[in-house]
Amino acid sequence: MPDVTLTTLQSLKQNGEKIAMLTAYDATFAQACSQAGAEVLLVGDSLGMVLQGHDSTLPVTIDEMAYHTASVKRGNNGALIISDLPFMAYSTSEQTLLNSARLMQAGAHMVKLEGAGWLAEPIRLLAERGVPVCAHLGLTPQAVNILGGYKVQGRQEAQARQMRADAMALEQAGAAMLLLECVPSELANEIAQAVKIPVIGIGAGPGTDGQVLVLHDMLGLSLSGRVAKFVRNFMEGQSSIQGALNAYVKAVKDGSFPAAEHGFSA
Ligand code: KIV
Repeated sequence: MPDVTLTTLQSLKQNGEKIAMLTAYDATFAQACSQAGAEVLLVGDSLGMVLQGHDSTLPVTIDEMAYHTASVKRGNNGALIISDLPFMAYSTSEQTLLNSARLMQAGAHMVKLEGAGWLAEPIRLLAERGVPVCAHLGLTPQAVNILGGYKVQGRQEAQARQMRADAMALEQAGAAMLLLECVPSELANEIAQAVKIPVIGIGAGPGTDGQVLVLHDMLGLSLSGRVAKFVRNFMEGQSSIQGALNAYVKAVKDGSFPAAEHGFSA
């Protein structure tokens, strides 16, 4: 497939074709996921949990993100690479610019920031300087200590109204993409319809423009033994990892994943 760009993702949204995204942290899996047809690889700070064994993403550093981004770039076969700015790596304008530059120079095509309406400022700053941004709303794991755990967000009407307004404000500020994590399916669907930029969901139901899962989760691997409601084990019925990755991309594309049971109600 030709290299995936932002324009490709926008066309997929316009044509109603689902976008398949997976996390990847190294060259071998970047190659396997991109060859399976995933349009987007996310070098997520989830690597702090699934690779390093921490109980949150907070310990992950910018050096580690740059290292894994460079590894993913070497194995990638045409997918668009998004890298997470880790915890507190975008708390000032100077940090935001310098740390985004680290990730872009390591091989990212876009950076991802977690937050809410306040992200408008860093998004504007980066977009004006040529760095596309994915804004991560809903359950934002870097804020787990404020949220009081990994819980569904946007269930109360006031919270839902705020999230809708934030999504539109961030699009207006220049966000290239939104990611909604653990948001009631109906709200995620409304947000995806309200904005023109692609909206990717994880635990956000079937109505978003695309889906992402953490690689280890969809391969049936879990350090804690706990499996989130929105995860499906794609190794079931497959005899190889490549088969499971292919099955994931196919299921996202044909709309069979996520099913209603993988989503949350308000
Ligand atoms: O860090 C990550 O892998 C993520 C996904 C859970 C969306 O942000």
